[in-house]
Amino acid sequence: MSRHYDVAAVRSQFPVTERLLYLDSAHQTPLATSVREALLGFYQEGHEMAGPKPLWLKRVEQVRARVAKLLNAAPAEIAFTKNTSEGMNIAANALPLTAGDNVLLVEGDHPNNAYAFLNLRRKGIEVRFVPMTGATATADMFVPHVDARTRAISLSHVTFHAGHRFDLAALGAFCAERRLYFVVDAMQSTGVLQLDVKAIQASIVGSGCHKGLLIPQGLGILYCNEGLDELQPAYLALSSLANPPGDYIARTDNMALKHGAGRFEIGNLNLPDIHALDASLDLIEHIGVDAIAAHMYDLGDRLIEHLDEQCIRLVGPRARADRAPHIYVLDLPAETWLDYFATQKVRISPERDGIRVSFGLFNTFEDVDRFAAIVAQRVGTSATAARAIS
Ligand SMILES: Cc1ncc(COP(=O)(O)O)c(C=O)c1O
Repeated sequence: MSRHYDVAAVRSQFPVTERLLYLDSAHQTPLATSVREALLGFYQEGHEMAGPKPLWLKRVEQVRARVAKLLNAAPAEIAFTKNTSEGMNIAANALPLTAGDNVLLVEGDHPNNAYAFLNLRRKGIEVRFVPMTGATATADMFVPHVDARTRAISLSHVTFHAGHRFDLAALGAFCAERRLYFVVDAMQSTGVLQLDVKAIQASIVGSGCHKGLLIPQGLGILYCNEGLDELQPAYLALSSLANPPGDYIARTDNMALKHGAGRFEIGNLNLPDIHALDASLDLIEHIGVDAIAAHMYDLGDRLIEHLDEQCIRLVGPRARADRAPHIYVLDLPAETWLDYFATQKVRISPERDGIRVSFGLFNTFEDVDRFAAIVAQRVGTSATAARAIS
């Protein structure tokens, strides 16, 4: 039972839960039945009616408006991309940076964020990795690294490797005060945590949709603040233009770009995934992101209780204020635990510091208890084995 929503009803949408103890939603979502049906519906329309494409494009705009609502943005501030990496590369290449400027990243943050900016080193841009000094990333941590040539901070909302949740409102305020661009990788938070792009004063936010947004890989969303007309796209297509030529003949006399994120959208989009996203947003909106986060925090508290009982260290932050609701890394060596979890039909991910358990909106307290029992069984077994050997 959850205090926040009818998890049993949601769970019935995820048949994977009958086959596996699925604790790997930070890696990839299993598909909900309604999302699968949306994909099949799209394929059927393509198969039987070849769309029609104008109908599909109308739906694209409806889904864009729904994504905008999720992030508290205007629809024109949302573009569809391929994934987070594309979003971070769009950001890195759009910022008006010149040789000698520098950008601050958090040491150890996701490489797909880092490489987008490291690629700018060939243009003379410096990338500074700022070490985490405490349980979370704070403005104070960045202060010693900011100088007159610092132009931007880019970081994840939630870290994939230990489940830190950064205080984006405070970091956004710091960036606004120092006139820095603020770029956020929201891959691990969209659909799981409220993200209000205005409240955090973000310049650009990028995310894929195959985790908390519950659809297959291949679709990303990008927020770009509508006021930032100085941000220039590295790639250009008809769809990036404010006034695309109606006769489809390219000319140079009116290449004005769309305001907001539209300038970064190029060519045909991942229409099947956009249809899938329409269905997954039904599910997410019906429950509410706050209820999803609250339920996952409760699951996390239960998991931490079990870990304490078994003297297993939690690698990331413990406090709700610093941790994400759904990502918990256990100090258990992946090399020796992975096969065991596979034999027990438990799906988790190996991480740099241990085993990552991550919740989806369908997980229950029973899942957490079962996981703890499976861990205890092996810890007990190996302790017995160690005693037998000594
Ligand atoms: C924080 C973060 N950023 C980015 C990614 C993935 O990037 P992409 O969407 O480009 O595959 C992940 C995980 O897959 C992630 O955890």
